[in-house]
Amino acid sequence: MALFCRAAYLLLKPSRPVAACISAAARQYSSGGQYDYIIVEKRGEKQNVGFIQLNRPKALNALCDGLMSEVGQALDDFEADGGVGAIVITGSDRAFAAGADIKEMQNRTFQECYGGNFLSHWNRVSTVKKPVIAAVNGFALGGGCELAMMCDIIYAGEKAQFGQPEILLGTIPGAGGTQRLTRAVGKSLAMEMVLTGDKINAQEAKQSGLVSKICPVDQLVLEAIKCGEKIASNSKLVSAMAKEAVNAAYELTLAEGNRLEKRLFHSTFATEDRKEGMSAFVEKRQASFKDK
Ligand code: HXC
Repeated sequence: MALFCRAAYLLLKPSRPVAACISAAARQYSSGGQYDYIIVEKRGEKQNVGFIQLNRPKALNALCDGLMSEVGQALDDFEADGGVGAIVITGSDRAFAAGADIKEMQNRTFQECYGGNFLSHWNRVSTVKKPVIAAVNGFALGGGCELAMMCDIIYAGEKAQFGQPEILLGTIPGAGGTQRLTRAVGKSLAMEMVLTGDKINAQEAKQSGLVSKICPVDQLVLEAIKCGEKIASNSKLVSAMAKEAVNAAYELTLAEGNRLEKRLFHSTFATEDRKEGMSAFVEKRQASFKDK
């Protein structure tokens, strides 16, 4: 990429400087030195799992605007990277994220929030087509819990704590907490958490369906990457269809959802990967998907 940029610059003298090309490539493929608040890498044996670590330890990964913009940028890069088949978002052992940045929000006015469509850019996490796994150790509170719930799968470390404590600050969840938590754990527990600000632990989160797996703290990220590798070994095209179909269950009636599922199922028959998957089964060999 860098060589290509250099050659193109020398031959065509483009307006975009070489440094910009190199830095875009570096941001995509290196260890995330371009970011202030997150660490971005590719993980897994085949380097096919995008890895985003929230890295604002002194503020327990409070989700300031800059951090969430960087998460959006990293997701854009992974979405465009044909080698990446799944994405893991994690924090530190102490905190996945302790919420939106209260110090940044403290003096905001209604006019600024409403006029500036405050927090609208957070939605990027829920619009990514590739499967996203949240690996939650420690606190996932307020916006931190909401960020985890925007992901497709949540794995929790044994000491994880989930909560929507906004009520204690005189506000309410604003990034999907009241909606996604209710769908995940049911009305009574969601109401209790949102109205009291009480947290639930990893075991309660598993029992209520908020998370799908509990892991020892030091194994959590490895397990999430393993899950990402499993997902990435399948067809990316068909994984996106599967994700779209499951997500539709939250939006549509049963009849509409079943119709969408059937159409997507039919669509897989237009892909080479569906042919390859079934041929591989019949020929008793491992499928080799080309994402076509
Ligand atoms: C900004 C935060 C923060 C936050 C923690 N910190 N949470 N800064 N925004 N959400 C900072 C503290 O100010 C402190 O920095 C440092 O992180 C360590 O925090 P402590 O409180 O000293 O740690 P501890 O005693 O261990 O308590 C941990 C905690 C507590 C229980 C997680 O920090 C806490 O209650 N945080 C707020 C949780 C919360 O209410 N989240 C919801 C936010 S509102 P300094 O420099 O001061 O020592 C929200 C709205 C979402 O998320 C709406 C849509 C996105």
